[in-house]
Amino acid sequence: MFELSDKHLMAFTKRQPVALVRGEGSRVWDSDGKMYLDFTGGISVTALGHSHPKVVGTLREQAATLLHVSNIFHIPQQAQLAQLLCEHSFADRVFFSNSGAEANETAIKLARKWAKEHGASDRGDIISMRGGFHGRTLATVTATAQEKYHHGFEPLPGGFKYVAYNDLKALERAIDSHTAAVLVEPIQGEGGIIVPDDGYLPGLRKLCDEAGILLIFDEIQTGMGRTGKLWAYEHSGVAPDIMTLAKALANGVPIGAMLTREEIASVLVAGTHGSTFGGTPFITSVALATLTTILDGKLWERAAQMGRYLMDGLRAIQASTPAVRAVRGKGLLIGAELASPVGPVVDACREGGLLVLSAGERVLRLTPPLIVEERDCDRALAIIKTALGHA
Ligand SMILES: Cc1ncc(COP(=O)(O)O)c(C=O)c1O
Repeated sequence: MFELSDKHLMAFTKRQPVALVRGEGSRVWDSDGKMYLDFTGGISVTALGHSHPKVVGTLREQAATLLHVSNIFHIPQQAQLAQLLCEHSFADRVFFSNSGAEANETAIKLARKWAKEHGASDRGDIISMRGGFHGRTLATVTATAQEKYHHGFEPLPGGFKYVAYNDLKALERAIDSHTAAVLVEPIQGEGGIIVPDDGYLPGLRKLCDEAGILLIFDEIQTGMGRTGKLWAYEHSGVAPDIMTLAKALANGVPIGAMLTREEIASVLVAGTHGSTFGGTPFITSVALATLTTILDGKLWERAAQMGRYLMDGLRAIQASTPAVRAVRGKGLLIGAELASPVGPVVDACREGGLLVLSAGERVLRLTPPLIVEERDCDRALAIIKTALGHA
């Protein structure tokens, strides 16, 4: 199987040498029958764990009822999902896409159109933060202010500027008459689980309001309860003008969403944007089941509780070894910064029966499902402690 992958697939992802074939809750099994604790959660996707009965039931029923119809018709599940998202956020309107990158593309298009209608015709620049991650399409990879993702893809689209994360003064200096919006992750995920200072998001809100520009929060990784609140922006006391979601919104069925307020949404009129697969009955019914389960179970509270438990455990490990330099995160979006490259530790964890992620060169990233149990965390911590002997 590994040879087959190596022979025919584009080799842009460095794959771990296992093929996962089955999952249940926080556990997955490989093709040899070996069981692992899955603390990757599909990179913050499977918030409800694998094979969740509500997700599986909805998926089966909807697939047998109506899989796809075009957005030229009304789609009840799509409307209900949008209503639920709006009732539980700052937003009034939602656009559904297929991925996070596409949700961010939509946000960029909307911000530019809004800026042109509310300012000068040359207002179109998007300011994003160094170390951030917003996707792989040409516009979103350009918004991703990390050289390594740009290299070789030039010429990149224009109209993007970068400033340091967690630096309000740098942003204040960068905003000018060409700026349309600021695009930022409330916590940087791929960039190494970087939690900004408490005043950072309120400071961004103030700067954007003073300049009359839009504030876009990319909650593709932080949303859906992962950080201990339904949306990470709730920790800060301020709301964005536009928010993008994807990953956990349908627990593994591909979806993206862009949420915004009425007066901003109104600039994208009929014919200016669209998607063939975005928001179709199958996808939105699964998302509806996922969101309802998260809301009914207040699973963000569980994420906060389990996150504290895991971080306390990691800090106890940090106290016992110089291999861990720092432990940071919110809820179940957790990073442990190591003194040496993380690759061997990821491998040793896998050997020990635990799947984990990296975020950059030296950060071990844990994004278990929100339904993870204390005994799973205990087992994961024991495996990590042993694996750090390999660091
Ligand atoms: C914060 C953030 N934004 C955008 C994306 C891109 O999402 P997708 O891979 O669904 O296009 C990701 C993916 O990791 C992400 O973490």
